[in-house]
Amino acid sequence: MSPVPGKAVVRAPGRVNLMGDHTDYADGFALPMAIDLETRVAFRPTDDGRVRMRSATFHGLLDVAADGTAEPPTVDPPWGRLVAGVVCTLAARGRPPVGIDATVSSTVPAGSGLSSSAALAVSSALALLGAAAWTLPPTDIAVACQEAELLGTGVPSGIMDQLTSIRGVAGHALLLDCRARSVEPVPLPSAYAVVVVHSGLPRALADSAYAERHAAVTAAAARLGLPALRDARPEQVADDPIARHVVSENARVLAAVAALRAGDVGALRPLFAASHASLRDDFRVSTPELDRLVELLVEHGAVGARLTGAGFGGCVVAFVQRNHADDVTTKATRAYQRELGLEPHAFVVRAADGAGPA
Ligand code: GLA
Repeated sequence: MSPVPGKAVVRAPGRVNLMGDHTDYADGFALPMAIDLETRVAFRPTDDGRVRMRSATFHGLLDVAADGTAEPPTVDPPWGRLVAGVVCTLAARGRPPVGIDATVSSTVPAGSGLSSSAALAVSSALALLGAAAWTLPPTDIAVACQEAELLGTGVPSGIMDQLTSIRGVAGHALLLDCRARSVEPVPLPSAYAVVVVHSGLPRALADSAYAERHAAVTAAAARLGLPALRDARPEQVADDPIARHVVSENARVLAAVAALRAGDVGALRPLFAASHASLRDDFRVSTPELDRLVELLVEHGAVGARLTGAGFGGCVVAFVQRNHADDVTTKATRAYQRELGLEPHAFVVRAADGAGPA
């Protein structure tokens, strides 16, 4: 979106997760990066106490009270429910009820597991804060956006997406400790590319299955008498596939960080393979199509590939030697298309800075 004169413009990136899925809501570790696909909100403050937002992609005008008295789940158009949620969670933190006239546009594909909703929530939050000349610490903005997701859409997401969208660092993945909500940038080797491949399979039943998994993870911790599965030892979860995934995935995140810091890219290969297998067999959030796409990417030369995000369709992520990235992805996606008759879409992403003024 080109800036409109007289308006301010803010941006918030999507994210791809390299390692550590379904660990954030167990107080665990994850290794995502903010990407060079983003949502932008162009806005100007108004004095009528209304938050009005149009979307360049979706129909309808969002028009809610800036004081957070709207009921987000009943808001029409539906894409505005998350934004209405952000209005509420910021109002609850004391944001003055200044209105905005805003337009949102995005290059983050919706419903593909690249956190288009976190990018929308975070960019809306920055516009609302900017209009009211009011600030909050970045972690509080992330938590307000996470709460808005539950309030507006009913999805009990973890903190990974929002924290990554705010705290991204160009050229780096982020080691997230989701209990401490702390972020440590981990440099990515420039000779390797991060490739995202959309499977051509829309994410199906993702929200209900996500909430079920979340509940199962919470229940497993309660059975063990622990605050969260972050605190479980491998031998305590050996017979519980759901808990076993979380515990083993946390360990893989720390191992992947150690490998990147040591410049030992080869050590990532078994970690990617084990992560995908665990999401497929223990946590059961993969599909045959994602499994095949991952296999083909590795067969054709990726260092590693795995499903990324919540699963149930959407995207896989691959780590590939940069000068072979085109070759590997072209061969793998052609074979996938031939075998499965689905239209995959591959693109290289770069690790981007977190949200801010555009
Ligand atoms: C979605 C959620 C995140 C995280 C991932 C799975 O993206 O929004 O909080 O739980 O799924 O790792």
